[in-house]
Amino acid sequence: MSTYPLPIVRTVAELRRKIAPWRQHRERVALVPTMGALHEGHLSLVRMAQQNARRVIVSLFVNPTQFGPSEDFAAYPRHEAHDVALLAKAGCDLMFAPTVEAMYAPGFSTSVTVAKVSEPLDGASRPGHFAGVATVVTKLLLQTAPDLAVFGEKDFQQLQVIRRLVADLDIPVEVLGGPIVRAEDGLALSSRNAYLTPPERSIAPLLHRSLARASRGLQAGATVAKVEAEAVDALLAAGFAHVDYVEVRDAHDLTRLGPGVIRGGARVLGAAVLGKTRLIDNVAV
Ligand code: PAF
Repeated sequence: MSTYPLPIVRTVAELRRKIAPWRQHRERVALVPTMGALHEGHLSLVRMAQQNARRVIVSLFVNPTQFGPSEDFAAYPRHEAHDVALLAKAGCDLMFAPTVEAMYAPGFSTSVTVAKVSEPLDGASRPGHFAGVATVVTKLLLQTAPDLAVFGEKDFQQLQVIRRLVADLDIPVEVLGGPIVRAEDGLALSSRNAYLTPPERSIAPLLHRSLARASRGLQAGATVAKVEAEAVDALLAAGFAHVDYVEVRDAHDLTRLGPGVIRGGARVLGAAVLGKTRLIDNVAV
């Protein structure tokens, strides 16, 4: 465990200077990439990293390139002092919190795109989002060169995109997915839950309930088409303004499953808008 206060670095050069002695001592290093506004879900990823590595680095960077022009980049919650206190208490070894200029120097022109697995679901609803994620995650992995990196399963498609890019680019890092942490009523913890008004907050757990019902329906023999349609209807009836998707997909490559009864590993994924907040969630089948 590290000593309080938590060391914070803001440039890649400082980051590498901090990591170098750990490498010399052959200590295993883990990276937990985040955009801050940390909650128990992130802390569970830090604990998973600590169980698998001697040193844990948490990156905190609200990445502008993964937000669309009409999305919430400016409004995204930023609570660095609070995040630092949580990470120090959790025994994290280092925080990497670069500025936008340190990550994207003038003239920056490179983009990493992952085809296929990036294209449906959030890739279709949020054009350019996964290229922004893949680019920044590739940079973070090259900057820290960790032995392992931990991502939450709440962003299930993101996790599969990252697994694909790490395999395709031969990046020598083990990718671990951390289980979704939920509030007592089932709502998946998310930094964006802070946007919900009290009435919206009481409706929000219905997203998880609808996906879980769809998963149970599939296991009981219902068709993909039936469980998807029922989930969309339930969300709209409960007050969600719009359902981007509820889809049952292959759990690994996220390809579409046929309309019939499913047989192999699958995941039910959903994204829906409640008031001004877009919520996503997913459930294993
Ligand atoms: O999941 C997130 O918080 C972000 O998409 C990530 C992986 C930190 C990249 O900006």
